[in-house]
Amino acid sequence: MRLRPAKREDIKEMVKVYLESYRGLEEYAYNHPDDVQAYLDWLFRRDAEGIWLAQDCGQVVGFVAGDRRWFSKREGKVVGALHELVVLPAHRRKGIGRSLVERAFEHFRDRALDTVELWVGDENRPAMSFYKRLGFQERDRFNYWLRMTRPLK
Ligand SMILES: CC(C)(COP(=O)(O)OP(=O)(O)OC[C@H]1O[C@@H](n2cnc3c(N)ncnc32)[C@H](O)[C@@H]1OP(=O)(O)O)[C@@H](O)C(=O)NCCC(=O)NCCS
Repeated sequence: MRLRPAKREDIKEMVKVYLESYRGLEEYAYNHPDDVQAYLDWLFRRDAEGIWLAQDCGQVVGFVAGDRRWFSKREGKVVGALHELVVLPAHRRKGIGRSLVERAFEHFRDRALDTVELWVGDENRPAMSFYKRLGFQERDRFNYWLRMTRPLK
């Protein structure tokens, strides 16, 4: 497995990885390829350098989208936002999600950010366990989303 920066040419493959990764969690995801593509376009506009892919044998098996220009209303400052993280089901529990998130942390540290923020679906227990394992804590809630943060040292 290796990590590499994503390029806009990767978007087609990323759409497939996204849709497959959210199977069973559709209520928390975009479900139409056009919507996913528009969302990925938005992520690239926000912070193209914060998007990293995990590749295995030439195939994209996951990606992370970090954003180092995100103003968090709740924190009252710019934070590193983890907008997206997916790993294909067949490649889970091998440390790929952790490697991707740690790469995003490096991206945030380059900007001297001190906090990472994300929103996770309130019944997405695997993701919540994953984030807690990586040092995130639950903060507050908006509809069916939970906000989690983690200090960045
Ligand atoms: C969340 C997700 C990215 C984790 O990816 P992953 O590559 O499997 O994660 P890792 O292997 O790096 O896991 C690191 C640690 O997190 C914890 N963890 C990961 N998945 C877990 C699960 N399903 N249940 C409990 N703990 C879990 C474990 O402690 C794990 O370490 P271990 O395998 O040594 O026990 C993946 O499950 C996924 O793509 N889910 C669907 C999309 C999604 O929910 N994204 C997040 C949206 S906010």
